Amino acid sequence: MSTTTAHAEIASFTPYPIKHLPINIQLGEESLIVEWDHGHQSEYHYLWLRDNCHCSECIASLTREQVFEICDVPLTIKPIEAYISDDNRIIIQWDFEQHLSQYHPGWLLSHCYSESALNDKKLDSKVWDKERIQGELPNTQYKKVLENDDELLSWLKDLRDYGLALVTQVDTQTNTLVKVANRISFIRETNFGTIFNVQAKADANSTAYTNLRLPLHTDLPTRELQPGLQFLHCLINDATGGESIFVDGFKIAEHMREHYPEDFASLSAIPMSFYNKDKETDYRFRGTAIVTDSNGKIVEVRLANFLRGPIDVPSHQTMALYKAYRRFISLTRETKFQHFQRLNQGDLIVFDNRRVLHARNAFDLKAGRRHLQGCYIDRDELLSRIRVLERNRL
Ligand code: OGA
Ligand code: ZN
Ligand code: ZN
Repeated sequence: MSTTTAHAEIASFTPYPIKHLPINIQLGEESLIVEWDHGHQSEYHYLWLRDNCHCSECIASLTREQVFEICDVPLTIKPIEAYISDDNRIIIQWDFEQHLSQYHPGWLLSHCYSESALNDKKLDSKVWDKERIQGELPNTQYKKVLENDDELLSWLKDLRDYGLALVTQVDTQTNTLVKVANRISFIRETNFGTIFNVQAKADANSTAYTNLRLPLHTDLPTRELQPGLQFLHCLINDATGGESIFVDGFKIAEHMREHYPEDFASLSAIPMSFYNKDKETDYRFRGTAIVTDSNGKIVEVRLANFLRGPIDVPSHQTMALYKAYRRFISLTRETKFQHFQRLNQGDLIVFDNRRVLHARNAFDLKAGRRHLQGCYIDRDELLSRIRVLERNRL
């Protein structure tokens, strides 16, 4: 099969290999039915097809962005003529302004929106408990992440799917984590700095900067957008205690949905307040601990007990929210969900901070020092980097 691609004309920088060819088309009332050589049928509405014309009048060739606006054609726009060309494109002559559109078969099939095609395109997270992640924790080495794009891509896809991934043998010079972070993209700066130093400090403005236990939490639930990825690089860990714990928040939420549906409904509908304040700043956000998308899929978890504001919901919801919140925290304490990982010098753990909760045990500095460095990158950056790395491998 040909793998010809035609970037410039398909409004994209991604190549679309031709995997199947259209063998028949039928013109319906509002849509075109395309039959492919592997037996799949796609339905494309005429408005959708007109909206996705890739000609140089409809798309700006420099940016590959659309200049055409769909309200400039009638809602009832239809083809006067439609056919499959010798080079397997679908050609449509429209009944309005004599416009002519051509559709590349690779592009068209990969944008099919039949139910089965949409299902195939869904990215399912690999949701884990202790047993699963112990056997499957993605990990790679520092040198490979820096030097090898194939290794980087496979590690990033694992990070996307599991929400937790380790890099070992990382140099222990300060700020080395920037080199790894920059293999994805730029860092998200916050009031804690571009890079934050997790050490017990005399002037701590967060429990993180003490030697106290930090219960399971996501970082910055106090912001409208919680940072997508968190990096924690261990420079030194000779203290007694200070072990890390990770729990897949999606697993806890799924477990709750199955076993305690009322509590799940409360946590995904009733907002909680989160506060983060020091002498200079005062951040607050009100949002639900569990976030689902329009299909009911769990897409985010938001939680940090030490950053909670007082519960401030109408009184008929107060008890329901407390009951559900207590349940969630109790579930995260069950060892079958907890992955223990003592970070050793040279380990760099990266996790999806909008999904995976992290904690550390209290530590005692009599035996030695403990110093981690951390930073954040948004989820968008990870997904964009994966797509661009995949572009060259399609
Ligand atoms: C943090 C944090 C974990 C640790 O800084 O947000 O959770 O192991 N630190 O110190
Ligand atoms: Zn056009
Ligand atoms: Zn944290």
